[in-house]
Amino acid sequence: MDVDMDSKYNIGNNNKISTISKFQMKLKPTPIVFNNSKISPPSPKRLKLNDKENNQTVFNSANNFHNKPKISIQDQRRKLPVFEQRNKLLDLIKRHKTLIILGETGSGKTTQIPQYINSARLQENGKIGITQPRRVAAITVALRVAQEYGQGMSVGDVVGYTVRFEDVTTKKTKIKYLTDGMLLREAINDRLLNQYTVIILDEAHERTIHTDVLFGIVKRAQKIREERNLPPLKIIIMSATMDVDHFSRYFNNCQAVYLEGRTYPVNVFFAVKPHDDYQTSCVATFFKIHREAPPNHDVLIFLTGQEEIEACAHQIRLLSKDPDVQGPPIRVFTLYAAQPGTQQMAVFQPSQPNTRKVIISTNIAETSVTISGIRYVIDGGMVKARSFHPSTGLEVLKVQRISQEQAWQRTGRAGRESEGFCYRIYTRSQFELMKKTAVPEIQRANLNSVVLQLLALGVHALHFDFMDKPPKESILAAFEQLKQLGAIEDIDSINLTPLGRKMAKFPLDPRFSKILLSSQQFGCVAEALTTVALLSSESILLTPCSRREQVQSVRQKFCSGYGDHITLLNIYREFNNVGKNNKRSWCHEHFINMRNILHAREVRNQLEDICKKCDLTVSSCGGQMDQLRKCLLTGLFTNVAQLYRDRQYMTLDKGQVVQIHPSSDLHGQQPQFVVFTEVVQTNKCYLRGLTTVEGDWLNEIAPEYMKNHCLRYSRDS
Ligand code: CDP
Ligand code: MG
Repeated sequence: MDVDMDSKYNIGNNNKISTISKFQMKLKPTPIVFNNSKISPPSPKRLKLNDKENNQTVFNSANNFHNKPKISIQDQRRKLPVFEQRNKLLDLIKRHKTLIILGETGSGKTTQIPQYINSARLQENGKIGITQPRRVAAITVALRVAQEYGQGMSVGDVVGYTVRFEDVTTKKTKIKYLTDGMLLREAINDRLLNQYTVIILDEAHERTIHTDVLFGIVKRAQKIREERNLPPLKIIIMSATMDVDHFSRYFNNCQAVYLEGRTYPVNVFFAVKPHDDYQTSCVATFFKIHREAPPNHDVLIFLTGQEEIEACAHQIRLLSKDPDVQGPPIRVFTLYAAQPGTQQMAVFQPSQPNTRKVIISTNIAETSVTISGIRYVIDGGMVKARSFHPSTGLEVLKVQRISQEQAWQRTGRAGRESEGFCYRIYTRSQFELMKKTAVPEIQRANLNSVVLQLLALGVHALHFDFMDKPPKESILAAFEQLKQLGAIEDIDSINLTPLGRKMAKFPLDPRFSKILLSSQQFGCVAEALTTVALLSSESILLTPCSRREQVQSVRQKFCSGYGDHITLLNIYREFNNVGKNNKRSWCHEHFINMRNILHAREVRNQLEDICKKCDLTVSSCGGQMDQLRKCLLTGLFTNVAQLYRDRQYMTLDKGQVVQIHPSSDLHGQQPQFVVFTEVVQTNKCYLRGLTTVEGDWLNEIAPEYMKNHCLRYSRDS
């Protein structure tokens, strides 16, 4: 039952070179030339059925799969590749306490396997917990599974989900989808995760920081439960593609099974020359496809984030109105984390007959969610990633090249239902220079939260059983910061201080927890709660590309001379004052994302509950913004920059040269000191999310820290 994985990509038998002809349009994106590829995707290891040596199993499924929109939901379930294998799978799950399941995206792993386990009652009296790296995926999948469950079942009954600040589960819930971050938080309250008898760590190849920590946590919980004769914990690791050997070794050489999905040939095209403006190239490529492809051959474009995606959507909508554009009507959809849920769900609706659906998405659509009807993929080749640099002390958000593995995942999205096409907006040599796989987040992220959470679990991060160890400097930097914040006495301490224990109760970066916990002292608990809640939710500001000036003028009245955080606070306060019935029109008028601001209010309520449990009384500083600005410094004193030359700032922590981002309220002004919450790197390093502070306050608020970090220039120089 060997499977030759190479054959699924039909690469190289189509040698024509496609050229995009000139646009007859107003906004002419530069035409881009592609070359047909002859390279092959990396061949996954051949996995054999019951191969003792490899300890791995292959499943094969024969049917061709065409996802026609009209078939019933139960028929759709039966047509999934995983369906034919359910008995074999259940048998394996029964027999092994840890199992790795690999399978193509869309084969039914996430939605079906928990339901099979539940039908067979393999979880006995416990729950089945399934982690997802992304909020969107946890929610959409839970909704889908509740719908599949039928019998008028709504989400929150047998099937539920828990994401940060939102718990849609009840006592009845058996199948619980949750973000990996949430399961980690649950582990703090219950180290052995006793409510679960089955834990599925899904999308393991994404290697998010939380999933990586969970690997160690569930492994430990399983072992201890076994030693103490408690109900056993079954662990299932699921993934689209991954280095099976590496995972299996870590989980004591556990069994791995491979579920063959149905994939069709995909013709891959590379750009003939490099294109720096990949966004415009994506638009140009879309219109080339649109002109040539039959209706309902839908297109998926991969870009990096909200701004890029909205700009691209706007450009396509605008160009599609041009009378010279031929082809069926175009329907544009977007998919990114910050967007309202109803818009996210719209992407999954089957497309209308005789139209062309184009979805512009972040890497969410790589493996986390499956959208039917896609025949064409346009891969911009980039991704937005957060990375921490111990040497500069900055955690930077940066657009960077994807890995080859990601490129293949994106390509695969075009071949799920029939033969497809993938246009890569990069050259073959650029592809060859990409990393084979992405660096796990734990090896490039700020570890403050993780180190704190592990300490709350009684574990020292340097001695934790990581699958891949994070750099020692990052762990030490986190200990250093926790000491500065007062969460631990010493950098080699394993015990949290009483303050540290309180900090660990908040589902927040320790710096934000510190702000909340010190707000009482400044009489601004209410304002601190609002600010932290707004910074912990998706942006409440909508900025449609076409109406930038209008947005600026209508929001002018909220702008604070103290900067962005206070501006956000002003907006929130005004929103609260608006009558219930007028909130929607007020949001519309001021370009505020109503869903996100309501969500921020929810977040605020939950944070307020935790504050009350920590014995804080909610006080307000009214208009005395100095109190709030000082309070922000109690958590963020390591995020301070000082003006040192025309428009140039230097961070106090490690002396990095930075500038104020053009989108900040403080852009164009030159306050002496600012505290920042975000660093964005393009060709320069920019600060975003700013509040002005006074130099004197630093000595007052963080005297210990200031002993080692003197101000770079005195105020008068
Ligand atoms: O986890 P995996 O990628 O193997 O597949 P899945 O997420 O379980 O998806 C199985 C099928 O369910 C896909 O073919 C989707 O079309 C469908 N699905 C859906 O229609 N709506 C969702 N929110 C999730 C999945
Ligand atoms: Mg999945």
